Amino acid sequence: MLRTSPFDPPPEYAALRADRPVTQVTLWDGTLAWLVTGYDEVRRLLTHPGVSSMLDRPGYPELSPGGNRTNQVGESFVNMDAPRHQIHRRMLSRDFGLQKITELRPHIREIVAQLVEEMTAGVRTADLVSSLALPVPSMVICEILGVPSRDREYFHEKACATLSLSSHPEEVRRAYEEIVDYLRELVSMKRRAPADDLVSRLLTQQVEPGNLTEEELVVMVHLLLMAGHETTANMIALGILALLDQPGQYVVLRENRELLPGAVEELLRYLSIVHLSPRRVAIEDLDIAGRRIRAGEGLLLLVSAANRDPSVFPDPDLLDLLRRPRNQIAFGYGMHLCLGQHLARAELEVTFDAVLERLPNLRLDVPIDSIRFKSDMIVYGVHELPVSW
Ligand code: HEM
Repeated sequence: MLRTSPFDPPPEYAALRADRPVTQVTLWDGTLAWLVTGYDEVRRLLTHPGVSSMLDRPGYPELSPGGNRTNQVGESFVNMDAPRHQIHRRMLSRDFGLQKITELRPHIREIVAQLVEEMTAGVRTADLVSSLALPVPSMVICEILGVPSRDREYFHEKACATLSLSSHPEEVRRAYEEIVDYLRELVSMKRRAPADDLVSRLLTQQVEPGNLTEEELVVMVHLLLMAGHETTANMIALGILALLDQPGQYVVLRENRELLPGAVEELLRYLSIVHLSPRRVAIEDLDIAGRRIRAGEGLLLLVSAANRDPSVFPDPDLLDLLRRPRNQIAFGYGMHLCLGQHLARAELEVTFDAVLERLPNLRLDVPIDSIRFKSDMIVYGVHELPVSW
């Protein structure tokens, strides 16, 4: 199923949701999985004890030949079930909690201000992806973790290879191996010379007392780096493009900056960039929406479709900056609800605010149909965003 417009999910989702919100589909490799498009059904399954996130369970749905089951670095907590999942996640809950992220906001503002300064110095055009959307989340997560910022480019390149659905399996495997080697070296460097960062703290507070092995720490850092880079970067660039594309929306927000937190929530709903996930596998027989799902069958619980469910969001295909959709599920739902949600919201609000303030006349520099969209990536977005001001 393909998109027919840049901001909307494939039109088949709406038809399926109305008729069969839980329906069996054939994946690229001929295996069957359940495609779930209804809001209630997605939420019910995301909190159901009879579904698992574990990649190595037979039936877990893969999205491409380079899919992550065969190329996993190790088992990260996004792919663990209770109770192990909570044990790992709890080690990070304070660092990504609302209070800690609120304290971090002024620093995020400094990072964004400096990047906008550099981007606009003496020029009136730029690629917003490489000069702002990607560096913001990348610098922030690297600083939190204690990853030297000179290595950011390297990560981005490797992350792209692992997130692309068209990468060759061998290419994905090599990219993973290189990242893991790098992270092992980083962890041993932090062991020799601890600093005031998350990796050093996890080493002293979790690895040394024996709650976490060094290899598990490497896997955890890998998850945070990947999850922390690509997602917010795509939301920033695609969000700005959506505001510029819909007549008047950029101006409305520029003139009414107090709308920003609600607008971010609406953009998260409308764009739902994690567009092919979450994925799960049933571990017991389940009855839902009149369908019987058998143990061992894969599930694609599409938040991108659920967030366009008209029974929850009236006129769902409209980007309505006044909507304030507090119940949107672009960050997932249930126990795997995005750990970085407060960080992502802070990065989005601060970046949009700075762009609206500093670039009041921002416009797209090319026709929208010449922009390359990331339809073939696990996280949707744009590869470049040429703008002028
Ligand atoms: C707009 C940006 C973001 C979006 C749309 C997003 C979306 C999501 C979604 C849908 C999930 C659920 C996956 C599942 O249920 O299988 C998730 C989980 C996760 N996200 Fe995010 N994310 C974003 C930003 C971030 C950032 C900045 C971080 C950095 C720390 C992060 C870290 C994580 C982690 C660690 C998990 C796994 C949580 C768990 O399994 O308990 N995310 N995210």
